[in-house]
Amino acid sequence: MGGSSATVTLNGNQVSCPVRSGSVGPDVIDIRKLYAQTGAFTFDPGFTSTASCDSAITYIDGDEGVLLHRGYPIGQLAEHSSFMEVSYLLLNGELPSKDVLDKFSGTISRHTMLHEQLATFYRGFRRDAHPMAIMCGVVGALSAFYHDSTDITDPHQRMVASHRLIAKMPTIAAMAYKYSVGQPFLYPRNDLSYTGNFLRMTFGVPAEDYYVNPVVERALDRIFILHADHEQNASTSTVRLAGSSGANPFACIAAGIACLWGPAHGGANEAALNMLREIGTPDRIPHYIERAKNKDDPFRLMGFGHRVYKNYDPRATVMQSTVREVFEALNVSDPVFEVALQLEHMALNDPYFIEKKLFPNVDFYSGVILSAIGFPTTMFTALFALARTVGWVAQWNEMISDPEQKIGRPRQLYTGPAQRDYVPVDKR
Ligand code: ACO
Repeated sequence: MGGSSATVTLNGNQVSCPVRSGSVGPDVIDIRKLYAQTGAFTFDPGFTSTASCDSAITYIDGDEGVLLHRGYPIGQLAEHSSFMEVSYLLLNGELPSKDVLDKFSGTISRHTMLHEQLATFYRGFRRDAHPMAIMCGVVGALSAFYHDSTDITDPHQRMVASHRLIAKMPTIAAMAYKYSVGQPFLYPRNDLSYTGNFLRMTFGVPAEDYYVNPVVERALDRIFILHADHEQNASTSTVRLAGSSGANPFACIAAGIACLWGPAHGGANEAALNMLREIGTPDRIPHYIERAKNKDDPFRLMGFGHRVYKNYDPRATVMQSTVREVFEALNVSDPVFEVALQLEHMALNDPYFIEKKLFPNVDFYSGVILSAIGFPTTMFTALFALARTVGWVAQWNEMISDPEQKIGRPRQLYTGPAQRDYVPVDKR
């Protein structure tokens, strides 16, 4: 590879591919002309060596355990900022002044209500439906309700759709919960914070006032910050791919929710807590560590390992300290926290995990906190979807406004039969 180009030699042909540098991070080899010049594709299932777009939103250095949003380290944002401020930052690129932040928060507050007909839509779901099934359906259904914000070529309409999505997700998620427990839906209240409003819509009842515990509100707000965006992960890439055809923004976010639901992605915090509960007591940890190392056993330590982080996930550090704060504020304890701490300690000292660079990810501790707050495990991924919505819309907006944007259309290495003649059924 030369300083500014890489040379591919194929069948005696030499093709020069430009090398592009970002502001930080690895260079990329621009192979867009490779097929035209060589007739060959590159092969990269799982995209482990492929950058799919330019982006100025989030930067991850997986080896060093660094996560930056618009340049700001996640630890600083989690400590000093709020989810509303981080949302503004992700969408607009800069931290807002106080006035601008107040205006943005006010705009989001005023978009939190759902079209009244959507309440009827919920009643079509079985009572035991998973909240992610409901979220997927209801967010997709929004595309049938808001026709005034779907001209994606108009930046103003794009921003209105983005605000609507960020604002309505807490209402949608809280209603999914209320539906599952058979309690009446609660309307949003604009005098509460984004996160306080969500807590009230989830845990409040019309019969009495709901007290928003400030420590829980802050902890959940921080969890939202930690999940707000994460570069070109599976669900974000899904949103971009769906959006690349010019699809309706609400439908694109529904696609992102569908992808996030999987246990290898957003479903991992639910799976991690279930695993910790199954382990139950510290003396059983070695047995599970041995299972995770056994190639013939499909069991994996949930909440461990990450496609990008080959170091401690910086979000897991913040999560671990938040567990203690929430436990103290609510005066609760949960044996799974002790199991989690000891499991982490044992795994981090085990040659298998050291060699494979497997560290706790954000999901390892988040389930413990969410459970202490009172969320059932089925709601965990719904909370992730709520928080990730801002990342999805920020990335979707960035893609649509990119002049080089094209419909996403990967190719393949075909391994099926070569052309053959059809055989009539009586001759087979
Ligand atoms: N427990 C035991 N072994 C593991 C684990 C684990 N949690 N994760 C990876 N490994 C092993 C694999 O078996 C593989 O071993 P090998 O090289 O001998 O074949 C090696 O480590 C590399 O793993 P891959 O699956 O190739 O790594 P990939 O980048 O594809 O997977 C993933 C990343 C899906 C996150 C994986 O680590 C995993 O399944 N973790 C558990 C689920 C989880 O916590 N997901 C949350 C991700 S974070 C998020 O979505 C917010």
